[in-house]
Amino acid sequence: ALPFDLAGVRILISAGGTREPLDPVRYLGNHSSGKQGFALARAAAARGAEVTVVAGSTSGAGEPAGVQRIPISSAMELSDEMAERAVTADVIIMAAAVADFRPVVIADAKIKKGTSGPAPIELETNPDILAGLVQSRKRGEIAAETVIVGFAAETGDDTGGVLDHGRAKFARKGCDLLVVNPVGAGKAFGTEDNTGWLLSTAGTETALPLTSKTLLASRILDALAPLLPQR
Ligand code: C5P
Repeated sequence: ALPFDLAGVRILISAGGTREPLDPVRYLGNHSSGKQGFALARAAAARGAEVTVVAGSTSGAGEPAGVQRIPISSAMELSDEMAERAVTADVIIMAAAVADFRPVVIADAKIKKGTSGPAPIELETNPDILAGLVQSRKRGEIAAETVIVGFAAETGDDTGGVLDHGRAKFARKGCDLLVVNPVGAGKAFGTEDNTGWLLSTAGTETALPLTSKTLLASRILDALAPLLPQR
């Protein structure tokens, strides 16, 4: 990659996991470390981009230097931040692991054990932020030139299953690039390395070799740079 080939490009990245509160002390969460999102943020900043990272829970991901970091906790907070900031972004990368559901009720006080066994937790569906951003772009609320990148963490019995799931998700979400990652036992979440495929609307499917999240970030930026309008 050329040094500073992303000079002045405004890149909005979501990273890490969301926490869906149950009561003042408990939440439903996931194992996302934020490492891939932060690696993207660092790589983009190193190439001259103006980077904003909206970050949920992270683990061992360090602090991305030279970027604006906005903390969020829940999917709804992430949704609000992304919607507000999307209008001034040239590139949006949804690397966060967003909870699909949230508890309907957030108890004001710590939920008691009670005497009749576990109380059921009622859940409702969170908005699909990535799909929502694509819809906003369609409606003209976000500039048509904005490049939108998604991630698909998939489990499958074999690698073919993962890619098939990724293809189906790409068709559903409507983003410009989709990074498909195999996840599960020791794969992707929390690890230093990552692998998968990069799917583009041009129909290309590029295999990403198992490599560091840092190098993978560069590959992703290499793929999106040509999609930016000429500057
Ligand atoms: O549908 P799935 O969660 O596998 O899709 C993953 C992609 O969608 C990721 O880019 C993730 O950040 C995004 N996503 C989202 N809002 C959700 C769930 C996922 O933006 N509620």
